[in-house]
Amino acid sequence: MTTFPTRPFDGQKPGTSGLRKKTPVFMQLNYLENFVQATFDAIGGVAGKVLVLGGDGRYFGAEAAQVIVKMAAANGAARVIVGQGAWLSTPAASNLIRTRGADGGIILSASHNPGGPEEDFGVKYNMANGGPAPEAVTEAIFARTKEITAFHKLEAPDVNLEAIGESALGGMVVEVVDPVEAYADMMEEIFDFKALRGLFHEGFTMRMDSMCAITGPYAVEIFENRLGAAKGTVVHEQPLPDFGGMHPDPNPTWAHELMAEMMGDAAPDFGAASDGDGDRNMIVGRGVYVSPSDSLAVIAANAHLVPGYAGGLKGVARSMPTSAAVDRVAAALGIDCYETPTGWKFFGNLMDAGRVSLCGEESFGTGSDHVREKDGLWAVLMWLNIIAARGQGVGEIMADHFARFGRNYYSRHDYEALPVDEANAMLGDLRDRLEGLKGKSFQGLVVESSDEFCYTDPVDGSVSAHQGFRILFEGGSRVVLRLSGTGTEGATLRVYLERYVAGPEGLDEDPQAALAPIIRATEEIVGIAARTGREEPNVIT
Ligand code: G6P
Ligand code: ZN
Repeated sequence: MTTFPTRPFDGQKPGTSGLRKKTPVFMQLNYLENFVQATFDAIGGVAGKVLVLGGDGRYFGAEAAQVIVKMAAANGAARVIVGQGAWLSTPAASNLIRTRGADGGIILSASHNPGGPEEDFGVKYNMANGGPAPEAVTEAIFARTKEITAFHKLEAPDVNLEAIGESALGGMVVEVVDPVEAYADMMEEIFDFKALRGLFHEGFTMRMDSMCAITGPYAVEIFENRLGAAKGTVVHEQPLPDFGGMHPDPNPTWAHELMAEMMGDAAPDFGAASDGDGDRNMIVGRGVYVSPSDSLAVIAANAHLVPGYAGGLKGVARSMPTSAAVDRVAAALGIDCYETPTGWKFFGNLMDAGRVSLCGEESFGTGSDHVREKDGLWAVLMWLNIIAARGQGVGEIMADHFARFGRNYYSRHDYEALPVDEANAMLGDLRDRLEGLKGKSFQGLVVESSDEFCYTDPVDGSVSAHQGFRILFEGGSRVVLRLSGTGTEGATLRVYLERYVAGPEGLDEDPQAALAPIIRATEEIVGIAARTGREEPNVIT
C-alpha cells in the first residue's frame, strides 16, 4: 500500500523562503507528508523526474529526508540525489540542481532560525533553475495543501543516506553524493585559488565562524584544505542538530563571539560567519564591521578583479530595503541596477534573463548568477579574492570605497515577537496616513515622498504588492518599514534606516549616531515605542 488518506492542515503557506514552523508542528502525524505531496502535486507530479534533496543538518532533517525519498519513490520519481547524511548547504543544493540538470530540489532548513526539538524546521522547493519557487508556484502549493485528501509514500525500511553511492528504492534510484565536492570545485573555477593560497602562505589570518551549522565542512575543505589557511581557522565547524544552542544568524548580535574577536587586540586580518543553511554571510575586518549593503557595493565595484567576473557585471540588483550604496557603483560602471522586493526568489528572473550577475540584500545575503540562491562562502571568497588582488585590508578597502562613492549610513532595527494584531494595526494606521505625510516635518526632517512598494517583474510582468512602506526625507535619507516574512513567532517589525553622506567630511561616524535624527523622526511618525512598549529593538544590524 502506498496511498494514505489525510486531511488538510491549516496554515501551510510558504513564506519568504519556504514553509517554516516550529519543529513539533512539522513532526505532527502527516504534516510533512501533506506539504510534500501538495508540493509534488502543484508542480505537476514528480513521475520520471530527478530531484535533489538535502538540508542544513538541523534536528528532524534526517527523518524528514527519509519521508521525502519514500514519497518521491511512491510518486514515481526517477532519481533523488541526496547529500551524504542528508546534508547540503542551500547554495550547494542550488548548484547540484543546475549541474545535474535536475527538475527541482527540496531543501530542509529554517535557514538562520535556531534548530532543535522546540525550535524551527522548514521545507523549501527549488525549481529546475536552482532557485526558490516563485510566488505562482508557492501559491499553488498552498492552494493544494487546503484540499489534499491523500499522499503517496512507499512503506520500506530507511535508506542508508550515510554511504556515498546508489541504491534502489522501489523503482527509483537514491544517489548519495559528497555534499561538499561539487561546490568546492565550482568555487575553484570562479576564484583565483592560486592567489588565495599565496595570501594564506604569506601569513594572512582569518576566522570563519560556521556557527555549528552546515558551512563547517565546506569551509574546512575550501579554506583549510584547498587554500592552506591554518588549521583551526574555521570554528564551530561541526554541524549539530541544535547548532550547539547557537542562533546561526551571522549578524553582530548573534555572531557576537566573532565580533568580540574581530574588535579585540588579537583580531585576525579577516573574519566571516555564515548562517544555518550557508546562504548568508557577515564580513568583518580587523576592528571594522562591513554592513551587508556596503559589502554588496564593494563587491560590485571590485568584481572585475575576480576571474569569474573579469568580463564585468551584466547588471546588479538589490532588495528595496537594502541601501542605495550599490546604485552609486552601478551608475559609475554604467550598468543597470534593479530594485526588488525582499526575498531571493525575486532575483531569479533577472539572472535567468541575463540582466544581472550580482545581487544582494541587507539581510546578509549576497550572491551571483553562479547559482540561484545567495551564497555565504562565495561572498567570503569574493572578499578574499578582492583583498588578495588589491593588496589591502578590509579597513583600507572600505575607506577607499566611501571616499570614492560617499557613504550610505545604514542600520536595521528589528522588533521581534510582537503581537500580530498590534503590528498589523500599527502598519495599517501608517498606511492610512502615508499620503498625508508628504511635505510635513518630523524632528526637522521633511518628508519628500512616501509610498507602499509594489514591484512589477520586468521579465514576466508579475506584480507583487504590499512590499513595505517607504518614507523618503529631503536630502536623501529614508526609512522603510515592513513585517518579516520569515519569522515563526508573532510578528517581527523591521525598520530600515538610511542616510547618505557624500564626503569628504563625515564619512567616519558611528552609524547609530549618524542615523539618530531618522530614528527620532520614525518614532514621531510611527510611534513604535509608544504603541508596543518596546524601548529598544531586539536586533540591530
Ligand atoms: C531570507 C530570504 C531573504 C530575505 C530574508 C529576510 O534569508 O532568503 O531573501 O531577505 O530572509 O526576510 P524577512 O522577510 O524576514 O525580512
Ligand atoms: Zn539561510
